[in-house]
Amino acid sequence: MKKPIVVSGIKPTGILHIGNYLGMLKNAVALQESNKYECFYFVADYHALTQRYDPKEKAKEIFDIAVDILAAGIDPKKSTIFLQSHIPEHANLAWIFNTITSMGMLERMVEYKEKLSEGHVPNVGLFDYPVLMAADILIYKGEYVPIGDDQRQHLELARDIVRTFNGRFGKTFKEPQGIYTKAVRIMSLDKPEKKMSKSLPNGCLYLTDSPEVIRKKVKAAVTDSFSEVGYDPEKRPAIANLLTIYSSFSGELIEKIVSRYKGKRYVEFKSDLAEVVVSALEPFQKKQKEFMKNKKYVMSVLEEGEKKARPIAERVLAEAKKRVGLI
Ligand code: TYM
Repeated sequence: MKKPIVVSGIKPTGILHIGNYLGMLKNAVALQESNKYECFYFVADYHALTQRYDPKEKAKEIFDIAVDILAAGIDPKKSTIFLQSHIPEHANLAWIFNTITSMGMLERMVEYKEKLSEGHVPNVGLFDYPVLMAADILIYKGEYVPIGDDQRQHLELARDIVRTFNGRFGKTFKEPQGIYTKAVRIMSLDKPEKKMSKSLPNGCLYLTDSPEVIRKKVKAAVTDSFSEVGYDPEKRPAIANLLTIYSSFSGELIEKIVSRYKGKRYVEFKSDLAEVVVSALEPFQKKQKEFMKNKKYVMSVLEEGEKKARPIAERVLAEAKKRVGLI
C-alpha cells in the first residue's frame, strides 16, 4: 500500500539552532524512523534568496544545511533529501498557485510583517514566499508537514490554496496537516518573549556550539524572580522555556524535572540543563564534522534525492497544468 507523504524544508539562512532541531528536525527523524511514511526533506534554497545575502557565502550555507539534515539523522536510504532549486517544478506550481491567491491573504502573513519590521526590503519574493511553500508541499502531494509553530499560518495558507484549487479545477490535492512536537516554539534565551531565531544570535543555542559556549549561554539565560523552578508558560515564560528544552532533550516529563529541583537554586538547574544539551548535541556534532569532510558524499546524496523527487514533481505539475487548462 502507498505510504502517506511527509514533506518539509529548512531555509539556509545561517546556522541551525535547537529551535529548528526540537521544533522540526527531531520529528522529521521520528517520522522517517516510524517507517509509515514516504518522507521528502529539502533545503529551501530558493526561499533563502528573499533576504539580503552575500552570494559568495550562500553556496556554503546551502551545503552546511544539507550536512546538518544528514547529521541530525535524516537518512538518505530512508528519506529523499534534495535541494529545492534543483527541482524547478516547485516554482512552476507556485506560479499557478499565485494566480489563485489573493494579495490580501499574503498581506496577513505574520512572518512577512515581522520581516518588514526587522527592516527587510519587501521584495516580491518575500511577499510571495508562502505560496512557494505551498507548492513545495503539494508538488509531492504532501499530506503531513513536520514544522514549528511559526510556520502554522503558512500551512493554513497552503490548505486555503488547496480548497480554492480543488473548488475551481476539480479535486487534485489534499489539505496538508502540520505535525508538531511538544517544543513547537522554543524561545530566545535572552529575550524569552521572542522565539529563538537566527536573527537573534545572542539568545540562540546553535547545534554547532561547543560545550563551553553552551554552558556560558545557558548560565546567562534569563530566568525570573521566583525562588525555585516551576512550570507556568503564561506567568513564567523564561523558566518554562528552559524546562521545555530540558524535557525535549532528556525525554523526561516536565513534572518530574520540576519535582527534582524542588528547593534547589536556579544555578543548579541551569548547570544540569547545560550538560543535558551538551550530551544531546554530541552525536550530532560528531556526525556533522564527518559529513563536512565528505563533500562528495553529501553532493551525491543531493543528486540521488533529485533523481527520486523530480519524476514525482513532473507528474504532479503535469496533472495541475492539465487541470487549469494548459495544453
Ligand atoms: P526555517 O528554516 O525558518 O525553520 C526550519 C524549521 O524550524 C522550525 N523552527 C522552530 N521550531 C520551534 N522553535 C523555534 N524557535 C523555531 N524556529 C524555527 C520552523 O518552524 C521550521 O519548521 N518556511 C520554512 C521552510 C520551508 C518549508 C517548506 C517548511 C520552505 N518550504 C515547505 C515546510 C514545508 C522556514 O523558513 O523554516
